[in-house]
Amino acid sequence: KTAGAAPSDGLAVLEQKRSTAETFGIPLAVLAELTHRCPLQCPYCSNPIELDRGGSELTTDEWKKVLSELAEIGVLQIHFSGGEPTARKDLVELVQHATDVGLYSNLITSAVLLTKEKLSALADAGLCHVQISFQGNEPIVADRVAGLKNAHEKKIEAAKWTRELDLPLTVNAVMHRQNLHQLSDIIQMAVDLDADRLEVANVQYYGWALKNRAALMPTLEQIEETSRIVEEATTRLKGILAIDYVVPDYYALRPKKCMGGWGRQFFNISPAGKVLPCHAAESITGLEFESVRSNHSIAWIWQNSEAFNRYRGTGWMPEPCKSCEFREIDFGGCRCQAFALTGDAGNTDPACTLSPMHEQIFKDAEREAAAHQDRFLYRNFAGGTLETEGEHGA
Ligand code: SF4
Ligand code: FES
Repeated sequence: KTAGAAPSDGLAVLEQKRSTAETFGIPLAVLAELTHRCPLQCPYCSNPIELDRGGSELTTDEWKKVLSELAEIGVLQIHFSGGEPTARKDLVELVQHATDVGLYSNLITSAVLLTKEKLSALADAGLCHVQISFQGNEPIVADRVAGLKNAHEKKIEAAKWTRELDLPLTVNAVMHRQNLHQLSDIIQMAVDLDADRLEVANVQYYGWALKNRAALMPTLEQIEETSRIVEEATTRLKGILAIDYVVPDYYALRPKKCMGGWGRQFFNISPAGKVLPCHAAESITGLEFESVRSNHSIAWIWQNSEAFNRYRGTGWMPEPCKSCEFREIDFGGCRCQAFALTGDAGNTDPACTLSPMHEQIFKDAEREAAAHQDRFLYRNFAGGTLETEGEHGA
């Protein structure tokens, strides 16, 4: 019942796949961003500022070829994501293909476009797991954050259908200053929905979220209270609900090991077929990313392409990372955050207290949080932007 479970291929096949994966160093799980289209307008959207338009998306046959190739080189799990992956009309066909080639499939969705019939068809096609994002525990806050009326109600419905179909469920709750007061209720909501796992995901401040940092940045008091609530709930709900939580890196001493280190454990494929070290990598200007439409295999791109090798390992590091005892623990933090906040992806992530830029950036963010400016600049795929301070964003 967990996202990390393996498909029922049989041990021998799994072993063979694992050894292929080790040969190439290919990650065992890959994120397939089927589309950037999305009916929500979240102010913390982590997709790149420049979205792939519908016309440039990989076709059904191209995605099937990608899925087959991933299975051949040893990938075990495919996470169908977006944007909103259910906006693709061929999702059932793609899930069926993933099943046919032996991939464990997970659907990462906002769930607002799902119907019971669609979810049932996905289950019949072999879908193994569903992850639904929530913006709060009730409609007033949640629909305002999502920028879509009735979004919360639809998500609750879809979560219930997920469990009725006996599919394992993860609740993904994106947390920030304007919904952290609901955390205890969100934890209870995940229990009531019979979820296996709750991800308490703090907003990361690059891409669109950086435009809304003043409205989203939590206060230090909120973070301390959050850690207390998570600790208490983790103990109380042992065996009922697994809770994933990492202290947001603006309030940690050292940055997170983003993506497990650049080009080490993870890649994703963008809607237009670019093979990327992380979903936000295209926000870094000056890097060229290879496409699955090129003549290169995915394994070649992973091992040899310039973009993957640019920040792989520790050789690229400047001081203070270069001589730091933690350099092989956090790999210098997040390249996208370093680029967004310092203009150079090759800098130490300023979330690190050892970065020469940490003090200034942290102080700015702290001041922003204290100012309690609550207006959102929404992400709107149709091209426009919308600012609201009211109770419902759209
Ligand atoms: Fe990590 Fe670099 Fe900070 Fe050391 S200086 S803790 S390697 S980010
Ligand atoms: Fe791109 Fe952290 S999100 S490296």
